Amino acid sequence: MTLFSVCTTDTLADAAKALRAGSLVAFPTETVYGLGADAQNEKAVARIYEVKGRPADHPLIVHIDSMERMDAWSSDIPEYAIKLARDYWPGPMTLVLKRSDTAKDFITGGQETVGLRVPAHPLALGLLAAFVDAGGLGIAAPSANRFGAVSPTTADAVQEELEEYMADSDLILDGGPSLVGVESTIIDCTGDVPKILRLGAITHEMITETTGLDVIDFGSSTSDEDQIRVSGSLESHYSPKAKVILDVIAEPGDGLIAPDQIPTPNGVVRLMAPSTIEQYARDLYRALRSADQQGLQVVVVLQPGGDGLAAAIRDRLKRAAHE
Ligand code: TXA
Ligand code: MG
Repeated sequence: MTLFSVCTTDTLADAAKALRAGSLVAFPTETVYGLGADAQNEKAVARIYEVKGRPADHPLIVHIDSMERMDAWSSDIPEYAIKLARDYWPGPMTLVLKRSDTAKDFITGGQETVGLRVPAHPLALGLLAAFVDAGGLGIAAPSANRFGAVSPTTADAVQEELEEYMADSDLILDGGPSLVGVESTIIDCTGDVPKILRLGAITHEMITETTGLDVIDFGSSTSDEDQIRVSGSLESHYSPKAKVILDVIAEPGDGLIAPDQIPTPNGVVRLMAPSTIEQYARDLYRALRSADQQGLQVVVVLQPGGDGLAAAIRDRLKRAAHE
């Protein structure tokens, strides 16, 4: 595995060629770091599952260079999905659409749908442009963590977590810390109206405003089908080794994640003190990782209140705290 801390046009062209040759490339996005493979290469995609230790029937998001590439991967795209793509791509939003023949079972987990996203990070877009130049159509990339663990928001976190599982020819591109910090909003666009499958920075209100439709809320369906389709919706996910306890008073020796107006009790290890909800999202996963690095047994988290991004944060915290 090679880590590139400075990425030039040449680096991105080489990384794109490595992807086309079947290697894995971990790369930054604005949400979290992704572990990428050529989405048309079954062997390369199989290696993602190996490196992540993830069940092989879980579908992967295909990252594309622009909304013009939607047609290559999907068919029957509803008008409201086009509107969403226009308003929020590049950005922290994944659209689930009816798949085309290009999206094979090894990408979709055997489902008739495919998840597509144009990420907003300049390095990710540079890599995708070079990848298209090299003849590719899309980069499959889950978050670059072991299955069930906290998503990485820095290249160092990717290296620490996955290095031992990566091959010599695999790469990690360092693009600095991810600015959003929680994974993309996932929207099912196969029905008459959009349905939120995972909460993120693109909010219910934004989706309603763009589409003018009666958006189906996250969690409004509890059928098994939905539970299986989104691994991030498993009850226990996004978990550090330390035990996460929500909304209690921290004891000496515990880690503490809380808004900046909350003081740190004596003997408690303050892991972050965000002053805005955006900062809370951006720094959360880094703080949870740092609890493990410091060998803390318990992290107390005081959850943010409110809708939108705050609801996405509470969703991840609920799963991080689930035993
Ligand atoms: O922000 C993100 O979305 C990041 C960055 C790297 O783009 N990626 C990410 O990927 O979070 P992953 O694999 O860790 O989570 C993607 C979720 C999974 O829970 C998967 O089951 C779901 O998206 N998913 C992918 N394709 C789907 C589909 N066709 N239908 C329903 N869910 C799908
Ligand atoms: Mg993930």
